[in-house]
Amino acid sequence: PFPDRRNPKKGEPATIGGFYTQEDMKEIIRYAAERQVEIIPEIDVPAHSNAALASYPEFACPVVKDFIGVLPGLGAKNAEIIFCAGNEGTFDFLQNVLDEVIALFPSRYINLGGDEARKTNWEKCPLCQSRIHKEHLENEEELQGYFMARLSDYVRSKGKEVMGWDELTNSKLPEESIILGWQGYGNAALKAAAQGHRFIMTPARVAYLIRYQGPQWFEPITYFGNNTLKGLFDYEPVQKDWKPEYEPLLMGVQACMWTEFCNTPEDVFYLTFPRLGALAEIAWVSKGTKNWNSFLKGLDNYNAHLACKGIRYAHSMFNIQHTITTETTGKLKVKLECERPDVEIRYTTDGTEPTATSTLYEKELIIEKDTDIKAATFSQNKQMGELLVLPIHWNKATSKPFIHADAGMDILVNGLRGSLKYTDFEWYTGQLSKPISFTIDLQKPESMKQFTVGCITNYGMGVHKPRSLKVEVSNDNVVFTEIGKLTFTDKEIFKEGNFIENLSIETDETTGQFVKFTLESAGNCPDDHVRPEQPSKIYIDEVIIE
Ligand code: ACM
Ligand code: ZN
Repeated sequence: PFPDRRNPKKGEPATIGGFYTQEDMKEIIRYAAERQVEIIPEIDVPAHSNAALASYPEFACPVVKDFIGVLPGLGAKNAEIIFCAGNEGTFDFLQNVLDEVIALFPSRYINLGGDEARKTNWEKCPLCQSRIHKEHLENEEELQGYFMARLSDYVRSKGKEVMGWDELTNSKLPEESIILGWQGYGNAALKAAAQGHRFIMTPARVAYLIRYQGPQWFEPITYFGNNTLKGLFDYEPVQKDWKPEYEPLLMGVQACMWTEFCNTPEDVFYLTFPRLGALAEIAWVSKGTKNWNSFLKGLDNYNAHLACKGIRYAHSMFNIQHTITTETTGKLKVKLECERPDVEIRYTTDGTEPTATSTLYEKELIIEKDTDIKAATFSQNKQMGELLVLPIHWNKATSKPFIHADAGMDILVNGLRGSLKYTDFEWYTGQLSKPISFTIDLQKPESMKQFTVGCITNYGMGVHKPRSLKVEVSNDNVVFTEIGKLTFTDKEIFKEGNFIENLSIETDETTGQFVKFTLESAGNCPDDHVRPEQPSKIYIDEVIIE
């Protein structure tokens, strides 16, 4: 799995798979063309190029002394290894690559990338600095503008058009370039539109298929965040606040299916289908005529067609997303949602599995004691989605209020533990750099022997336990007495793997009404980490006071 993958060290085999020969590529291009699909190659520069630089380290800045591995796209220090913009050899090399690519691909466009280039080495590199000086550039950002423009001019001289990601708007845009708006909601592309450039919307927050497409408890592990079928369907690429001149420059929408988390073609199909249907809908239906219910009817036929062809597709749209929040002190509110309005949610609270005749979920459930909720969706007496099991357990902190509550803190006292997916909406995360402090008001003096908070480690994503946990108790929310503190070493914090831990502090019988706990960040991931120099992230789930 991607989060466990390490950069190979010098001498270790670097790749698992292989490469496409020109003959393979011609076959793929032909296969696609027979189906009216044009393949547009992306040769991403100056970053996302570790695979090339692992083989041709002479085209990285000479200040890069370390061995260059092939693991791309992990940010921070990993993203610093980019092509040297001061070395003429870099341009000769890339022009040779482009010659080959241009000869091979009949497409009208070539994507030159330009995303996520961290310029730390350019700042230190004498060749890059000399280029900045010679070309009268302001800074490293403008150096990227120079780099992109130079290769763009080359591609254009061969009769092709150039595309690139929205980072190109950070400096002077290459002439006539087409910009892909991807960061957040993709709005950086509008800076290009304002300069008369054509653009494409591919917002990561909506249209990146690498993200989860449904309730995460049922999904195979992938990146973070949810981009559901309905979320993509609801996306309106032409935004209300656009200037009228932008719309004619919008060439279309794109969904990005990055495959870091995919290990087989079936994994790619799973993330692609049926969301590709929603992308087609937003791209092709006339404005104002989109309809979720009629789309779903069409989609069911489309999915039957996929099934017939043996193409794996996700049934995530039939699964239930739960949200458990504090109703009033002592009570919890359980909300169950399914993005398909044409299914019924049925549930039990007696431990049995729900059937088509179990209680129909009509509105939020209010509970005030330990409850096991089991729910599933049904249509025409048939179970449609996965079985959702919510074991809700009370402790002295459950459904109690926080002093200075932030949105989302409820999940710390909602009686439910998080899963191994730290973005499943059962894990709370705070600021990265500052210690985070929480005070729970137990509403009356309570005796306590143990304080526990759950935390999760996901090594590959830089999610780790805190440097320290301190717990204090008070009767008046003014004078606090420390009841215990845990402190961890780097070795204890930066462990590999994906697992949940309970951080527990035992105390002699203590009484208090206010319980304050403070978490200190572990700081940056160490140099031998897969994410060197990136701030580690803390995710905590349930607070358990016993
Ligand atoms: C991107 O996702 N880095 C374009
Ligand atoms: Zn350089």
